[in-house]
Amino acid sequence: MHDIQQMLEEKRALARLGGGQKRIDAQHAKGKLTARERLELLFDEGTFEEWDMFVEHRCVDFGMSDNKIPGDGVVIGYGMINGRLAFAYSQDFTVFGGALSETHAEKICKIMDQAMKVGAPVVGLNDSGGARIQEGVASLGGYADVFQKNVLASGVIPQISLIMGPCAGGAVYSPSMTDFIFMVKDSSYMFVTGPEVVKTVTHEEVTAEELGGALTHTTKSGVADLAFENDVEALLMLRRFFNYLPLNNREKPPVRPSGDPGNRLDHSLDTLVPDNPNKPYDIKELIVKVVDDGEFFELQPDYAANIVIGFGRMEGQTVGVVANNPLVLAGCLDIKSSIKAARFVRFCDAFSIPVVTFVDVPGFMPGTSQEYGGIIKHGAKLLYAYAECTVPKITVITRKAYGGAYDVMASKHLRGDVNFAWPNAEIAVMGAKGAVEIIFREDKGDPAKLAAREAEYKARFANPFVAGARGFIDDVIQPHETRKRICRSLKMLKDKKLENPWRKHGNIPL
Ligand code: HXC
Repeated sequence: MHDIQQMLEEKRALARLGGGQKRIDAQHAKGKLTARERLELLFDEGTFEEWDMFVEHRCVDFGMSDNKIPGDGVVIGYGMINGRLAFAYSQDFTVFGGALSETHAEKICKIMDQAMKVGAPVVGLNDSGGARIQEGVASLGGYADVFQKNVLASGVIPQISLIMGPCAGGAVYSPSMTDFIFMVKDSSYMFVTGPEVVKTVTHEEVTAEELGGALTHTTKSGVADLAFENDVEALLMLRRFFNYLPLNNREKPPVRPSGDPGNRLDHSLDTLVPDNPNKPYDIKELIVKVVDDGEFFELQPDYAANIVIGFGRMEGQTVGVVANNPLVLAGCLDIKSSIKAARFVRFCDAFSIPVVTFVDVPGFMPGTSQEYGGIIKHGAKLLYAYAECTVPKITVITRKAYGGAYDVMASKHLRGDVNFAWPNAEIAVMGAKGAVEIIFREDKGDPAKLAAREAEYKARFANPFVAGARGFIDDVIQPHETRKRICRSLKMLKDKKLENPWRKHGNIPL
């Protein structure tokens, strides 16, 4: 008996050593933690339960039958994050560069299946050179199996990817189908093909960092949501982020009681919007003043910053916040911001998270670059997302709500539950100046007459009362009472039930 126990301990020690001390040291020298060290930080102390420690690959080519490492380059299991269940896989770069083999893929699929059965999120800690080259098509098949699970899990359990090393080829497509991607600065990369292949095919010379580093994906491509300084910060922030999410699509998000009263007034909001309607202001100031304790977990802050998305809480309940930001591109909707917000609204809708929308939008961005890029189709994504969304929707128009963008931004017409406007809101087809230049074209040569027309148009339409008269706005509220009114509305909407007609699935303009 004693011998067997000793053998077990030896086997465990061997598995824990992964690709060996030399490779562990190399991993540390790059400022990276090992797969197991990461899991220790991700989960509450002592709660991680590992599975499949003794799995080995089945490859016999290229001398691989003599090169087996227990666990085969990925650590899988489950544990608690702040007391709530989560499953995780963590790729071990010290074992064949974390490359994915057939058995490595089977392990990932195993915990995904289990997570689906019990209804708990999956966190993927990715650090992988892609398909295990020695295995050929067996590895490609393994990837496809993981992709299939990602798709079936989408909208059922939250899936979060943390990119913590070089992720090439197949290693980027699984994360891309998960709900959120976080990266680590200077040590994580995501690309379909690396710089060498790029050079051969397109003759472009580009570094790995430029091609697929954390800054590239959080500022240029929008592939990743956030970039963190190092492994430790990324894992600790992921734990914080996890607190906002429900475990699955049948549960409500967790409620985290706060001492911040729901009826708190903030008089500084009365002067947030400048008198001059063309002057920008930062919508984030409103968001942090409205949510519990000023805590707002923003996603994609450096990508399409003309729209702000993220999670906050109102009287302890998670809400998704979407807000046009007049500080960037005057808050216009363009291709990137429409896609960014549409995906976020769909996540909230899939996971029963109410959506609070702050509107200050002068319209869709005009011009050839937007039209050639397909703003019609991409703008329609946001329209579609809001229109199909059945969770509680509360909208506050703080200033401009012009044209199609008025309709899109969770308007009453798209089944907005509670639609408020601040007293200075302007809800119209367009700004007064643009409007009179079109409808009174004949007065173009007479600036005084045009100015009078503009003043007349403003007086008639640049206010919230025309929309209010039609019931498109439920109430015109004082800025300082915004939190109170949203909190009350959320309470009223707590048991909201709304279902879309049965269908296999809709056809969102992708
Ligand atoms: C097997 C691999 C591997 C792979 C790395 N290794 N990638 N083994 N299959 N795909 C091994 C190396 O041989 C090495 O083993 C160890 O991992 C560490 O690799 P290094 O190159 O020394 O590390 P580093 O310099 O940090 O570079 C990491 C890397 C590079 C950028 C990931 O290794 C690399 O470019 N690898 C190949 C990436 C790739 O082309 N993958 C296939 C993509 S195609 P030793 O024994 O020396 O420690 C793909 C198709 C799927 O994924 C498509 C599905 C849609």
